Amino acid sequence: MNSDKEILKVAMPKGRIYKQALKLFREAGIPIPGDFDDTRKLIIEQPEAKMEFIMAKPVDVPTFVEYGVADIGIVGKDVLMEEDKDVYELLDLGIAKCRMSVIGLPDWKPTIQPRVATKYPSVASAYFREQGQQVEVIKLNGSIELAPLIGLADRIVDMVETGQTLRENGLIEMETIFGITSRLIANRVSYRMKNDSIQSLCDRLQETIATKG
Ligand code: PRP
Repeated sequence: MNSDKEILKVAMPKGRIYKQALKLFREAGIPIPGDFDDTRKLIIEQPEAKMEFIMAKPVDVPTFVEYGVADIGIVGKDVLMEEDKDVYELLDLGIAKCRMSVIGLPDWKPTIQPRVATKYPSVASAYFREQGQQVEVIKLNGSIELAPLIGLADRIVDMVETGQTLRENGLIEMETIFGITSRLIANRVSYRMKNDSIQSLCDRLQETIATKG
């Protein structure tokens, strides 16, 4: 039963996905006021939409959903691949398109002790293992493109969206590992207990995505 009191807790990723996610929700007819766009509030109740939004660092969205403090969440496929959490992946939202790539300097040559810097150590390790290449993976938390420029690593594994960061730093994409879009994920128990609300949101979003082509 879809009770009137049933509120969906939605973990929203702050940062690059956020505005596109809000836009998609609005296009799907979910009432989200304009002051959401620039708020610093971390928990926002939206009774009109029967939702409560939890503003999270993107990498934490799957954790909040796995533990059930959020029923559903929006997160990039990059984070899902790296975090490997026990959540349902319900829908490809088709927003925040980018890709995970191996990147290096144009004059890159194989080295005896290859080092790869990345924000995504699990993804990078799995990729090079599959390629049969032994590399040392160095975890960084941002500005990954610095690593080959300052001699910390000979290659990096990172996300490429417009390619501007690569161009401005004289780096090239050597290999694409996988394409990335944002996904709607759900907690396994919430998906059963709040199935009507979650499914109806899913249907609305899916229709909107289909209409947009
Ligand atoms: C991401 C990513 C690249 C850049 C790619 O970094 O790690 O550095 O965006 O985008 P582009 O292809 O459009 O240039 P982010 O902006 O999240 O910051 P970070 O360096 O702190 O990780």
